[in-house]
Amino acid sequence: DSQPPMVWYWIPFIGSMITFGIQPMTFMRKNRAKYGDYFTFLMFGKRMTVCLGVEGNSFVFNAKHSHVNAEDAYNHLTKPVFGAEVVYDVPNHVLMEQKKMGKIALTNENFKKYIPMIIEETNLYIKEHLTKDSDTIDIFKAVSELIIMTASRTLMGPEIRAQLFTGVAELYTTLDASFTPIHFLFEWLPLPSYYNCETAHNELNKIFGKIINDRRAQTDKKYDDMLNVFMTYVYKDGNKLTDLQVTNLMIAFLMAGQHTSSATTTWSLLNLSNNHDLIDQLYAQMKDVMGDDLPYPEFEDLNKMPMLQNIVKETLRTNPPIIQILRKVTKPIAIPKTNYIVPAENYLLSSPAVTQSESEYFIDPESYMPSRWETKSEFEKIDEDLGEATTDYGFGSMNSKSAKSPYLPFGAGRHRCIGEQFAHIQVQTILFTLIKHFDFTLDEKRGMPKPDYNSMVILPEAPCILKYTRRNK
Ligand code: HEM
Repeated sequence: DSQPPMVWYWIPFIGSMITFGIQPMTFMRKNRAKYGDYFTFLMFGKRMTVCLGVEGNSFVFNAKHSHVNAEDAYNHLTKPVFGAEVVYDVPNHVLMEQKKMGKIALTNENFKKYIPMIIEETNLYIKEHLTKDSDTIDIFKAVSELIIMTASRTLMGPEIRAQLFTGVAELYTTLDASFTPIHFLFEWLPLPSYYNCETAHNELNKIFGKIINDRRAQTDKKYDDMLNVFMTYVYKDGNKLTDLQVTNLMIAFLMAGQHTSSATTTWSLLNLSNNHDLIDQLYAQMKDVMGDDLPYPEFEDLNKMPMLQNIVKETLRTNPPIIQILRKVTKPIAIPKTNYIVPAENYLLSSPAVTQSESEYFIDPESYMPSRWETKSEFEKIDEDLGEATTDYGFGSMNSKSAKSPYLPFGAGRHRCIGEQFAHIQVQTILFTLIKHFDFTLDEKRGMPKPDYNSMVILPEAPCILKYTRRNK
């Protein structure tokens, strides 16, 4: 038995950080061709063992918690941002309960109520910001603002939405500044942003604390948001959440959805503009299903417009927001079907983005083709069959997908995303509303922006400009 091969590097300690950091996808593909599905590289003293292919994905997502875990890989990055006692700052079984709480709010019943709110917020935004008949717009900036407003309004509740403009949004931005690869790498550096995070948290605790107290005082109103679930949930050990835990969970879940959903919406609009026929086809399908005057869709209507869902799915294939899934090895672990053993202290890095762009699984993988999702692929069928049969981590079968799938934009296993359906509904509803009112084209000079790999979530290079033209002037 041996360790996976080490990628050769010039500079001691720093290792392959530069080549990996600038073009991670190229780095992974090149080294895969040289070393196979498993190899280790050095990055600022950290040994990263890359695990690729469907087997590599599955190994990382399903590795035993006794040998491999997410909290040791992520907590130094997420604790200053999310705050204490939530997500990776609690034992894994507590995280499982916190995710279960999130799921309680993310039901079809609630989605039905959220959709009109998302439409209303989008129209408010259009009225304020897309005021001309034709103009250019920084679409990433616009979409990010829309995502924070729609997520706050639906998941956090009306009180927090109402306070977004009185400083809450800025406090989130302050926290966000600490969510970067630098903060992952330099855990021992006293970066000034950590101090800013503490100040922002103190402020948010005050604001959220007051909202929580006000809600407790009024017993006559009923709320269908996550805040309500967090405030009323009783842990298996009989304890309720403290106000601090409620606040930090709200921040954590909002942050988990913010850049991921903003990136997905922006990349969807960019891909559509870059393949302009698709906008016309989508608009035609919207009219076919909803009628010529295009009334806004309800929950059931979204399913009748498969292009919306296929566009989001295809965007998550070609431009997945998360391309690195990290875990830390705590006990030496053998990689199945190989002779390799990964030693403790190494990190595991899996990247479903690699299998998502392989011709073995996707015909003409470089092309943006939402229509490829019109027929169910073999791996989707396998996932459906597995359904309940796979390990259930306590929050329903959709969270326990096989991980043997080449398409995993929401991860798999115990850390799988709980926000998939919400994200789909949010992004599809925003896309419908924007396309109902506007046509979009790429900025001719800039063309299609490239991915920027300098953040934890892969965004288009800034500024990300689109041209919009109002329909039915
Ligand atoms: C976990 C992607 C939206 C909440 C994850 C993971 C991925 C992911 C890949 C797995 C991380 C890992 O295994 O290390 C996405 C994408 C989104 C999205 C692509 C949008 C398009 C959301 C939203 C929410 C959310 C809207 C909340 C409402 C979470 C939570 C976890 C998670 C709580 C669990 C973390 C864990 O167990 O370690 N997401 N996400 N996500 N996501 Fe999402």
